[in-house]
Amino acid sequence: MKIIMACQSKKHYRIGWLPGDGIGQDVMEAARIVLDKVQLDAEYIHGDIGWEFWCKEGDALPKRTIELLQNVDAALFGAITSKPTKAAEEELVPELKGKGLVYRSPIVRMRQLFDLYICLRPCKAYPGNPLNYREDIDLVVFRENTEDLYAGVEFHPVPEEIKEVLKKHSKNFEPFVNLEADQFAISCKINTRKGSERIIRAAFEYARKNGRKKVTIVHKANVVRATDGLFLETAKVVAKDYPEIQYDEANVDAITMWLLKNPNNYDVLVAPNLYGDIVSDLCAQMVGGLGFGCSGNIGEKLAVFEPTHGSAPKYAGQYKVNPIATILAAKMMLDWLGETEKAQLIENAVAEVIKEGKVRTYDMGGSNTTLEMARAIADKI
Ligand code: IPM
Ligand code: MG
Repeated sequence: MKIIMACQSKKHYRIGWLPGDGIGQDVMEAARIVLDKVQLDAEYIHGDIGWEFWCKEGDALPKRTIELLQNVDAALFGAITSKPTKAAEEELVPELKGKGLVYRSPIVRMRQLFDLYICLRPCKAYPGNPLNYREDIDLVVFRENTEDLYAGVEFHPVPEEIKEVLKKHSKNFEPFVNLEADQFAISCKINTRKGSERIIRAAFEYARKNGRKKVTIVHKANVVRATDGLFLETAKVVAKDYPEIQYDEANVDAITMWLLKNPNNYDVLVAPNLYGDIVSDLCAQMVGGLGFGCSGNIGEKLAVFEPTHGSAPKYAGQYKVNPIATILAAKMMLDWLGETEKAQLIENAVAEVIKEGKVRTYDMGGSNTTLEMARAIADKI
């Protein structure tokens, strides 16, 4: 886990450069200004990804991009557009109708294909940010990134053999299985002990290496007994290896209230995939919103860094949005590569620009552009 043990940095890097759709292009251009300023010795290799390629080729993550990712040291990713339903997709791209293609979010596919099992989301309030909920927040969310409700095992309509299994499981399911095909769907939450253990261990390792005091396990094991029960049971075992770190458990619903009430009661949080998705957005909002939320999708061989926000198509190409989330994602990438000094330079510059308050994008109440913000940060390096 390189993010935890700063690895030996090497001189020349191959970086996968995946702007994606919408404002993905704008924020990546901004991140590049800052990366060039710290003079990272790297080639940035463009990869096709996103809605455009789904429309043109029926594949939002084309094979050539997967091959590219097999041969890079790390990748930076902008944003992608996705639609919630098949009907919405077909309305937008009528040529795809009836072809039986299923859109799966390319970022979710990347996480699974490359086993990027850690989703690391630091949420730190930089002093002077007018959007801070409080100035003293410094939380880190570890989100399991490959399993859970994101496993992609879904049925609609539900096949007969699965209905049979449900009927055998309990008489209570009979009213469901007798419904019309269109009236009943199943999404499976799949969690393994291995998957739970490695993300929980990553959170504890991170806490140990970074002088963090407490790890909170986020779950709903009182209701979702099998999968979340397994997660929690695994956590109790892993925690024994880290006696110096305070072990804590919280139900996912309750923690959304407690986090708002007293964020200082928390330090490192670790959660299964979907709860981690939700809780990390809450934490990002407390430190300025999605313009500040950065994310590392980390595996043993590859890591893909990204801003947590979406592609905001209505702002695409307007250079209006805040690039700080992507710039902080680039900073995380440098940390992972072992380029910790350059990473620190970027973080210091971001902190200084925020504190000074002279350059602000629209979300922060200002009128500066995406690239003006990037240049202001680069000027502090
Ligand atoms: C995130 C996003 C993604 C997710 C979407 C874009 C598929 O919300 O990275 O948090 O749900 O994981
Ligand atoms: Mg999300």
